[in-house]
Amino acid sequence: KKRVVSGVQPTGAIHLGNYLGAIRTWVSLQDLYNTLFFIVDLHAITLQHEPEELTNSTKSTAAMYLACGIDPEKASIFVQSHVAAHAELTWLLSCVTPIGWLNKMIQFKEKSRKAGDENVGSGLLTYPVLMASDILLYQCDLVPVGEDQRQHLELARDIAERFNNLYGGRKWKKLGGRGGRIFKVPEAMIPPAAARVMSLTDGTAKMSKSAPSDQSRINMLDNPDTILMKIKRCKTDSVNGMEFDNPERPECNNLLSVYQVVTSKTKQEVAEECKDLSWGQFKPLLTDAVISHLKPIQVRYAEITADPVYIDRILANGEDKAREIADVTLANAYQAMGFLPRQ
Ligand code: TYM
Repeated sequence: KKRVVSGVQPTGAIHLGNYLGAIRTWVSLQDLYNTLFFIVDLHAITLQHEPEELTNSTKSTAAMYLACGIDPEKASIFVQSHVAAHAELTWLLSCVTPIGWLNKMIQFKEKSRKAGDENVGSGLLTYPVLMASDILLYQCDLVPVGEDQRQHLELARDIAERFNNLYGGRKWKKLGGRGGRIFKVPEAMIPPAAARVMSLTDGTAKMSKSAPSDQSRINMLDNPDTILMKIKRCKTDSVNGMEFDNPERPECNNLLSVYQVVTSKTKQEVAEECKDLSWGQFKPLLTDAVISHLKPIQVRYAEITADPVYIDRILANGEDKAREIADVTLANAYQAMGFLPRQ
């Protein structure tokens, strides 16, 4: 079976973008592949954070994975920092990653501009190397993510290839290794629709956990009244009739895509159904569809969080399975670089 890995940062509430861009795809993959889904807590400290919030957010993110339908019988769910190999491999990979590659990362440029020089820790720059470790440790084939992670995935592939070229093959064999490549080079898997869910208040900006206004996103745990208000107040335009792919109407395209995915309809069906609708007619349809899609997830979330021991057990179990795979790759990487083996 092919292997799949992915994760979400525990920084605040999970929103519809995280779900439609990533978690929803994970659920569909767990029957077909060996899947590992982690909560990337080490990634959540690249900008200033509140320790207590990190603790809470890590637990609630794990609960949300389960509520969305990740099945611990099929997938391994674990916390990134619990498997030390992630942090260890990151050091090795950092030393083969040219700083120029990191400087080119769009997310780094955006985040560091917003944070201001004084607040930018070096972890914000090396963050994609940690992400590469998350992926490469598991020799995975596919990484299901939203569109905004495409560039980081490319970087992980480049790092894998560079490491393999520098230290794999005959050199590694001479040191007692298997020879060949140390890391498998993975592929990104980006959903065909809603891979980039946009803000409710600006159709040209990504829906994001860090946007100051909560009005800009629909959180997975928003209650029906909140969802109703957010959609009621969201940005629209003055054109009648709803349409996909008109670059002049980013809000319209975005909300149609959300509608398409939460109703499991095809793009054609939605285009046909909505082409003559005004915004005033479309918004209640969207509101109902979002509320009813999220309802069972919210019910499960409440059940799961009522029993905190349940989650702890699942995370401990997932961690064991993950460590088994990760430690082999880490040992290979050390060996290929010529580190004296531990006795
Ligand atoms: P994060 O926590 O920002 O987002 C988690 C996942 O949600 C997707 N996503 C979106 N998809 C569609 N529309 C949006 N508006 C939207 N916002 C977020 C992201 O693409 C992502 O798939 N660095 C990663 C986490 C990570 C990771 C990994 C992912 C760390 N290590 C290894 C895969 C494999 C991040 O910050 O995602």
